[in-house]
Amino acid sequence: MKCGVGVIGAGTVGGGVVKTLLANRALMKGKTGVELRLAHVAELRQECLKEFDLTGVTVSADAAALIADPAVNVVCELIGGLEPAKKFILAALNAKKHVVTANKMLLAHAGPELARAAIANGVELRYEAAVAGGIPIIKALREGLVANSIQVAYGILNGTCNYILSRMTYDNMEFDDALNLAVRLGFAETPPDLDIEGHDTAHKCQILASLAYSTEIDLKDIYVEGITKVTHADVAYAREMGYLIKLLAVIRAVDGEVEARVHPTLVPEDHLLASVRNEFNAIHVTGDIADSTLYYGRGAGRMPTASAVLADIMDIARRGDAPAPAPFVYGPRRPIRAIGSLTGRYYVRFNTLDEPGVLGKICTILGDRGVSIASVIQKERHEDNFVHVVLMTHETVESSIRSALAEIDQIGFVQEKTHVLRVL
Ligand code: HSE
Repeated sequence: MKCGVGVIGAGTVGGGVVKTLLANRALMKGKTGVELRLAHVAELRQECLKEFDLTGVTVSADAAALIADPAVNVVCELIGGLEPAKKFILAALNAKKHVVTANKMLLAHAGPELARAAIANGVELRYEAAVAGGIPIIKALREGLVANSIQVAYGILNGTCNYILSRMTYDNMEFDDALNLAVRLGFAETPPDLDIEGHDTAHKCQILASLAYSTEIDLKDIYVEGITKVTHADVAYAREMGYLIKLLAVIRAVDGEVEARVHPTLVPEDHLLASVRNEFNAIHVTGDIADSTLYYGRGAGRMPTASAVLADIMDIARRGDAPAPAPFVYGPRRPIRAIGSLTGRYYVRFNTLDEPGVLGKICTILGDRGVSIASVIQKERHEDNFVHVVLMTHETVESSIRSALAEIDQIGFVQEKTHVLRVL
């Protein structure tokens, strides 16, 4: 069996796909019997192609020509961003070509529209590379765990954030220094806002939650908080309490609703996710039948992402003429739980004057809202008259803690807005 592949965009990921198609073609044929042939590469910056021997491959700067090329059966959209990527994908689907994409942002914004176009045209739209790069988490949810009702999934889905938090944890760096290092090493996007403000993780969270619960999810309904307010002091206090701070996507079914949220989270240091360091990603999924499962690997980078793109191409080629599976199956819409209704434990760091009655007043206001305190840290003050008071609460409702902090932050002894983090 033969399959012609067209690659739109030969940048970081597309270049990895071209390289793998050229280098590992025989290996893949040996494993599957399928012969993948790189038929066409469309790239505006032709200098990107200099490293490849593209003898026999059509090279153009024209995505429309690639889509129309009869030698192309599968179109890989690897330019990223919303437009013109969406236009190219829709054109390919409407031309009855299968599409493989790594475009998490586009899927998070327009997944249902793209899925409908694929279904209407009887072709595939696959996106393994969009979430957690080289980790086959989409396949795990669609196939390996298909018999399970997914109870909860926790994901470390952004390598840049995990790298920054790792440097803050293990090298005592402040956030800005760790971010600069991540930028220098090429982990962070330029500019890095989508990474550090949590939106990249939210895009991936939206895709995983849609798959896990077969429901359309509006990106705007996902609560998103990035890591920019996490300080080295927070990391150190969390460690003292037995936790590491990780940026998590949390996906959970609860009382007919779906939780889909992204925020820095205190993870117990003996939890498997606490051992995921540096730029690595991991997803911990609990199903009602399989129980706990863990998927770990590189979530970004040229070759790990190319590995996922090639797996999708091969799945399409191996399926042959059998009916194309839907990219997403949407059942009835499930409501997304409002963040104020969340229940859990909370880490709270106050920066207050070191005066009589401060701790008492804080505890009284929290107690009035039914928030119970599990532990407290306060160190002796040094240069100025302010100290950190750090609390860990027992389980409570988020709206109660928010209302207590709104009142406490109005009091004169509080120097800055109190920092609160959720606990796994
Ligand atoms: N900027 C992303 C990350 C790339 O750091 O994980 C992969 O989506």
